[in-house]
Amino acid sequence: MPTYAHVTGWGMAVPERIMTNSDLAKIVDTTDEWIVSRTGIHERRIAGEKETTASLATKAAFRALDRTDLHPHDIDMVIVATATPEHLFPATACLVQDAIGAINAGAFDLSAACSGFIYGVSLASEAIRGGAIRNAVVIGAETLSRFINWDDRGTCILFGDGAGAFVLQASERPGGVLASVMRSDGSGGSLLSIPAGGSRRPATAETVSKKQHYIQMNGREVFRFATKVMADATRQVAEKAKLRIEDLSIIIPHQANRRIIEAAARGLDLPMDRFFVNLERYGNTSSASIPMAAFEAVEAGRIAPGDRVVMVGFGAGLTWGAMAIEWVAPERKISPAKRQQRRLQARMAGLRSIYRRLVRWIEGLLFGARVPGDEDDWA
Ligand code: ACO
Repeated sequence: MPTYAHVTGWGMAVPERIMTNSDLAKIVDTTDEWIVSRTGIHERRIAGEKETTASLATKAAFRALDRTDLHPHDIDMVIVATATPEHLFPATACLVQDAIGAINAGAFDLSAACSGFIYGVSLASEAIRGGAIRNAVVIGAETLSRFINWDDRGTCILFGDGAGAFVLQASERPGGVLASVMRSDGSGGSLLSIPAGGSRRPATAETVSKKQHYIQMNGREVFRFATKVMADATRQVAEKAKLRIEDLSIIIPHQANRRIIEAAARGLDLPMDRFFVNLERYGNTSSASIPMAAFEAVEAGRIAPGDRVVMVGFGAGLTWGAMAIEWVAPERKISPAKRQQRRLQARMAGLRSIYRRLVRWIEGLLFGARVPGDEDDWA
């Protein structure tokens, strides 16, 4: 009997702090009118001092798991798609795996910028359909505000922080993730990048003074690339899933710029109301934007069981991708008692994680096996 990969849980988390366009106009030479007319963005969320990519990802993952009947021990794979990981290594996904108590899971980060969530769900669903795993948590999470040059009005107005997560589960019931498309054109890599901080240009006083650790972008070229690939990828994935464009109930596009989404709608000859848009409140949250929009679309009743949905994105790399999903309601309803039990388990996972760190720390003290570094980082 064939196995299908269903989305059974969805969650999102954003920082509390809101930065409006008017707030930005106090920092750089811009106006609310310019930002809204060129992008559609009104405000974005900015991470607080204690919030990180992993903390937002963990919250979103817990919320997604809360909707399922899974125990954290049942999770086989944790994937965090992010362009703003906590470290070069360890992977942010490992920190999340530990925090949610997924002690039987493998975990890795996926670097495909704003297309990362599509890539992650695509890989996890293939692994489920192929029988290698049964349950996966895929998260898109970013703290882009830490990589923004707040003097550059061409980029600082665009981005925001947040996280969104899906739980994917194996099922014999037809539907779920039907098809996906993943593409890349590395020749356009320099159009959108953080030039320094990797092995090619490690951090030096010069790279810092030249602000090479911040996002640099050729907005006009990225815009041109995006308007082309959004419609193309949607068409390709619909064809792969044997769906017609008119069969699609809704399209969840990467939330970069309203004008890019309008161009995609024109390219597909679809009305704008067939696209879910929430970028006015969050800006571009890169890999988090699609799962955050999907979460809000489901909660708003814009995605219902039986719907055929395409999620489509583009980003640095250059990368782009799309996936077609036949949305199926979770097979088992979770009772309030079970939900309460899940919350307790989540708290226990946090305590166990603290316990494991404490044991490592004591071992380090006793046996001198501690690697020097900033222990606060792991608190
Ligand atoms: N406020 C006021 N004026 C501005 C601002 C601003 N915030 N930013 C730029 N301008 C000015 C420019 O200096 C320029 O002035 P000039 O004509 O005197 O030189 C003028 O506005 C036009 O600039 P453009 O860059 O041509 O403006 P454009 O209409 O292309 O809009 C934008 C810029 C919004 C960045 C657009 O190009 C865009 O959305 N591009 C795609 C970006 C994107 O989606 N990136 C994310 C990819 S996903 C990922 O991987 C993270």
